[in-house]
Amino acid sequence: MEYARSILDLIGNTPLVRISRVTRGIGPLERQPLVLAKLEMLSPGGSVKDRIGLPMIEAAERDGLLRPGGTIIEPTSGNTGHGLAIAAAIKGYRCVFVMADKQSAEKQAILRAYGAEVVLCPTNVPPESPESYYSVAARLARDIPGAYKPDQYWNAENTAAHEATTGPEIWRQTAGQITHLVASVGTGGTITGAARYLRSQKPDLVVVGADPEGSVLSGDVARPYLTEGVGEDFIPGTFDPELIDRWVRVSDRDAFAMARRITREEGILAGESCGTAMLATLQVARELTESGQGPGAVMVVILPDGGRNYLSKLYNDEWMRANGLLASAGSVVRVREVLEDRHHGEQIPDLVLARTTEKVGAAIRRLEDYGISQMPVSEAAEGSELAGIVGSISEKGLLERAYRDPGVVERTVGEVMDPPLPVVQETAPLDEAFALLARGVPAVLAIRLERPVGLVTKLDVLEYLSHHPRLGG
Ligand SMILES: Cc1ncc(COP(=O)(O)O)c(C=O)c1O
Repeated sequence: MEYARSILDLIGNTPLVRISRVTRGIGPLERQPLVLAKLEMLSPGGSVKDRIGLPMIEAAERDGLLRPGGTIIEPTSGNTGHGLAIAAAIKGYRCVFVMADKQSAEKQAILRAYGAEVVLCPTNVPPESPESYYSVAARLARDIPGAYKPDQYWNAENTAAHEATTGPEIWRQTAGQITHLVASVGTGGTITGAARYLRSQKPDLVVVGADPEGSVLSGDVARPYLTEGVGEDFIPGTFDPELIDRWVRVSDRDAFAMARRITREEGILAGESCGTAMLATLQVARELTESGQGPGAVMVVILPDGGRNYLSKLYNDEWMRANGLLASAGSVVRVREVLEDRHHGEQIPDLVLARTTEKVGAAIRRLEDYGISQMPVSEAAEGSELAGIVGSISEKGLLERAYRDPGVVERTVGEVMDPPLPVVQETAPLDEAFALLARGVPAVLAIRLERPVGLVTKLDVLEYLSHHPRLGG
């Protein structure tokens, strides 16, 4: 029989998965680094913080700070509470969690579901204010008999748990080939512990910290932000800034949009701080790709928790709009919707292809017949696999050639074609297609997995927007 003794034995050992869709925009695949995400949302409590709950409790038991019948009190953004609540459920302790009121209703509800009590405090007060969730937790720990406050921000077990589990798991899973570690930073336990272990194995490991705008960890001036679980207005004792080689600072809007993309394009239901970490990953991955250092590089990004924690916020369009996080039409609309919305005058197939072997004159006649301005060119005799697309022809390109050399119409398309059009997934946000069109490409080729399904031109986007005037905003 194969079974765990208790749910605690199932914490950690989260899988790595290759990220290959949100990375499409950063350059040709063969020049990109390998990007692997560590899926901490698959831990029983739904986050990376499961790893620290039990070790903090057991250390307190060893030190005589927590005794049978005792109460665990912790200021938490939610996830550490879930980790502690799981361990407390098994061991029979009472839990009181103190949270800032910006944390999602789901996180509070989950804590209550485990039987914990939740105390809410205002978010936008300094940590030293008597109202802050740090101060309230300290007061409760003083006032409640038998109370113990693990204090994840200063508890050495936090970092030690990641040094003992997260780091070694990544080392084993990448067979020692990891070159870059990327993590969003809250208490800093994850990045500090994992980086400490991985550096001991590989001294030239590059460690990238991802931080929200408005967090002092990366040196910004403290101000309110919406991303939960990461960034701080003080430097926690569990965080060793010396281990960080570079920081990437991420706005709420970008982090939320990227979290949604991870969910919709990679099928990984992601929390907000996953977006923060993934944006930092993409920035470094793009630099590696552009400088020719992509091949051979192995980036591991930690995805700390899942989207179920944020259904009422990140995955609620109304909340997103009310908080100014869904401003551009292109972040909510997908490329596919523009294709589906197209009103062709006549019966035009979604995709018209030219073949490398056909005469330019024949291709020009097809452009005329369908009233279109460009076509992808396939070298296959029939069918429309992406692998066969080797170029493109356009009204503009052909006119320039034919004007100089009228004999061009007798040549084959393969001899005169332009490079292939850039490709976007039909499930990608329209923003991606828009960015390419804005750079001056005549059209982008939308694909469904590896199969071309249609071309999107500037006119198509304009028509779509004119049919949907109330998008975004
Ligand atoms: C959603 C989320 N992401 C990231 C983190 C950061 O992890 P760490 O505290 O180990 O830096 C946390 C920590 O609470 C979190 O809740």
